[in-house]
Amino acid sequence: MEEFHPTAGKPAKGSDIPPVSYLKWYIPRLKEMRPHNLSFSGLQFPWELETIEGIWKEHRGPGVDDREMVSEIYGVEPENVHLCHGATQAINIAIAAASRGGKVAVEMPSYGPLSQSARILGLETIVVRRKPTNTAWIIDREEWEEVLSKVDLLMICPQLNPVGWSYTKEDRAWIIDKCKKYDVRIISDEVYSGADKDWIPMFREGENCISISSLTKIHGLGQLRYGWMIASKEIIANAENTFHNMAGIMSSPVIRIANQVKDRLNEPVELIEHYRKMNLPLLQESLDRLGIEWTPPPYGVFGAFKIPGINTMEMIDTIGKEHGLLAVPGSMFDSGLEEWLRVGWSIDPDSFSEAVVVLEQVISQAMNIT
Ligand SMILES: Cc1ncc(COP(=O)(O)O)c(C=O)c1O
Repeated sequence: MEEFHPTAGKPAKGSDIPPVSYLKWYIPRLKEMRPHNLSFSGLQFPWELETIEGIWKEHRGPGVDDREMVSEIYGVEPENVHLCHGATQAINIAIAAASRGGKVAVEMPSYGPLSQSARILGLETIVVRRKPTNTAWIIDREEWEEVLSKVDLLMICPQLNPVGWSYTKEDRAWIIDKCKKYDVRIISDEVYSGADKDWIPMFREGENCISISSLTKIHGLGQLRYGWMIASKEIIANAENTFHNMAGIMSSPVIRIANQVKDRLNEPVELIEHYRKMNLPLLQESLDRLGIEWTPPPYGVFGAFKIPGINTMEMIDTIGKEHGLLAVPGSMFDSGLEEWLRVGWSIDPDSFSEAVVVLEQVISQAMNIT
C-alpha cells in the first residue's frame, strides 16, 4: 500500500528526493471544495486590507530594517532575526546555517519539509518519535539519548502536528539538557506557538537553539509567505549568507503587506480563542457520543484522535467524500497513525457545527461497517 508519511535516511538528490506525499494527497482533495472542511491546520481569518499604494515598488530606504517587526514581537535585536519567505524556507536556511556536517535527528510525526529537507541539503537523518498518550505525547528518553549522542542537529515541532499538544514540561527540560550535553543544535518549528500564550520560544534556551515561525498558521496569512528564524548572531550571519546565495532578497510586496497588518496581529489570536470556545464543546460532545476518547490540546486550532479499527484515509476517501467531508488522516504524518484523524476547528461556528454533524455520521457509518 502506498505510504504518505515523511521518510528519513541518507542524503538525497535528483530522483531520490522524497516527495511531500501529504501535499500530493491533500491538494487535489482541497480543490474538490468539499462543503464540510475540517482539514485546515491554520486559522481561516477574513483579512480585508486597504489598497497599498505602490505595493510592488522597492521598499528599502535609509533607516529601514525589514527585521524590525519580528525583533519587536520577540524583544530581540535585529541581528538575532532573519526573515524568509515562509517557515518552510526558514527550515532550509536554518539547517544550512546551523549544521556542522553531522547527522540530523528528525522528530516524527512530522510536517514533511521539517524532517526531510536536511536530506536534500546533503545530510543523513535519523528518526526520533513522540508517542501517543491521552494528553501531551511523550518521548522515549532511551531512544532519544541514543540518537542525540550521534547527531549535531535536532529538528522538532513542539506543538506537534497532527495532535496539537506540546512537550510535557519535563520532556522539554530533558531535551534541552541532553542537547547541551551532546553539543546538539535545535531547530524548533514553532509555527503553531502563537496560539499558546505561555509558550517560551526555544531560542531563549541557549545559543544552540533556533526558533522558526511565520504568519501562516495563527495569523491566517499563508499566501503572504512571510516567515522568520531567531538565533544567535553567529548563526543568523550564516543564515544571511545562505539566504543571499539561495534566495536573494525578501520581496518588497511581502514586506509592505506585513507592515500593513502589523498592528492587527492580535485579532487572529483573539478569534482563535472565540472559535475554541464555540467549536470545541461541539466536537467533544460528538466524540463522546461515538465513544471516542479525546482531550483537546489547551491551545491551537487542531487536534487528532484515534478511531479504533478504522483506516481513516479509506474513510475520508469513501464515506467522507460521499458526505462532502474533508479531514486529514494520521497516516500523512507517520507510520502507525492509520487510525488517527486530524480535525481543525478554525472555521466559523455555523460551518463548524454543520461539519461536526457530518463528521459524526461518517465515523459512525465507518464503525458500523467494520
Ligand atoms: C509544522 C509546520 N511548519 C511549517 C508549515 C508551513 O509554514 P509556512 O507556510 O510558513 O511555510 C506547516 C504547514 O502545514 C507546518 O505544519
